[in-house]
Amino acid sequence: YGTSRINNQGHLEIGGVDTTSLAEKYGTPLYVYDVEDMSKRALEFKNAFDKHDMKYQVAYASKAFSCVAMIQLVDELGLSLDVVSGGELYTALKAGFPVERIHFHGNNKSPEEIEMAVREGIGCIVVDNFTELSWLMAITESLKKNMNVLIRITPGVEAHTHEYISTGQEDSKFGFDIQSGQASKAIEMLQANDYLNLEGVHSHIGSQIFETNGFTSAIEEIYKVLIVWKNTLDYDLKVLNLGGGFGIRYTNEDNPLPLRSYVDAMVEAVKEKVQEANMTMPEIWIEPGRAIVGEAGTTIYTVGSRKDIPGVRSYVSVDGGMTDNIRPALYQAKYEAVLANKMNEDTAEKVSIAGKCCESGDMLIWDLDLPQVEMGDLLAVSSTGAYGYSMANNYNRILKPAVVFVEAGEDYCVIERETYEDLVRHELGYKKKQKDQS
Ligand code: LLP
Repeated sequence: YGTSRINNQGHLEIGGVDTTSLAEKYGTPLYVYDVEDMSKRALEFKNAFDKHDMKYQVAYASKAFSCVAMIQLVDELGLSLDVVSGGELYTALKAGFPVERIHFHGNNKSPEEIEMAVREGIGCIVVDNFTELSWLMAITESLKKNMNVLIRITPGVEAHTHEYISTGQEDSKFGFDIQSGQASKAIEMLQANDYLNLEGVHSHIGSQIFETNGFTSAIEEIYKVLIVWKNTLDYDLKVLNLGGGFGIRYTNEDNPLPLRSYVDAMVEAVKEKVQEANMTMPEIWIEPGRAIVGEAGTTIYTVGSRKDIPGVRSYVSVDGGMTDNIRPALYQAKYEAVLANKMNEDTAEKVSIAGKCCESGDMLIWDLDLPQVEMGDLLAVSSTGAYGYSMANNYNRILKPAVVFVEAGEDYCVIERETYEDLVRHELGYKKKQKDQS
């Protein structure tokens, strides 16, 4: 999908732009997004559904990387949008995203967030629990506004991934439990409500999944209960949202499936169940985040200091780390990297890449083969597009990097680098000093 290549100066080029000139122009660390890569992946999902000639929505999970430019691209690609907070919703509205294609998720939406969504008239709210349901009922009634909803259920399927990003199991903070009857109670409440329109069911089993059988098992479990609901509650759904979680390639050890194979497996499994149970074929919605932006993002760092411990290890430090990519520290996530300015040089040493935070756990990559590394070299870490910028933080008061999009030989900044002034913008100072100033 991507447009990375080595140019004739032996530099890493993305989207037709030399990454060493990007580093010079915008500084480092720098997130570089390959627009063509993201577009192709989005269209692959859509084309896969189009082949099945059915109703669907591909909602980009904006938590993976949300900013005005990204959301405008998502709109242009004709996707829907999944938001999980007032902040993500606000960003979508700022970007001018069509409200009817926005879906709102989350296990603790506040009354203010729910009201914002209802007033704006977004496409649907994915209801997660009874507290939220009662707020939603009260808010829609007092505003005299309708809202489409899906109910999130936990199908009791374990996804084979890191436990922090596994969500389909019964013992999870998300969604209504099926076994204890919570989900059917929620359906009954929704059926009896005049302002809420129950469009269907949602399930998300986890993230960074490399097999289709997690999804097909979820469909299997969901239909077991849908058949019961059809008989007892006379409920047949219009929308089945199967969430996101499609795995991507971070290192050579990852072998992602073609994106269309997830769609094909889901559609076939649902078709089969629908026929068996004599139900109607629902629209299928999915919510890929990582699979759209993950591999499209590359982070460029400048190499600074190094420490060689003879016979033990060489630590090479870069000008970012866990503040712009917390995934290695949080999930032991693995990454690959190259020297963007020395793409044609042979491997000469094994080094470990350290971030600049005052924290031993701030290591980006262990035991990486690189050409001879020198201060000032540019390290390009690949597959940093998802949950990199979106989980960036200001630990050690380190500034969040800039983000640039590259496309057909052009580059443009979509988020400026933070400044020191940004760090203290909301600060009011200690009380004595406040008095002195007034
Ligand atoms: N839909 C729902 C309801 C979700 O909870 C998620 C991710 C997605 C869609 C999108 O999943 P994706 O396609 O991006 O895998 N910070 C972690 C990932 C947390 C995912 C949370 N939910 C990481 O860096 O791996």
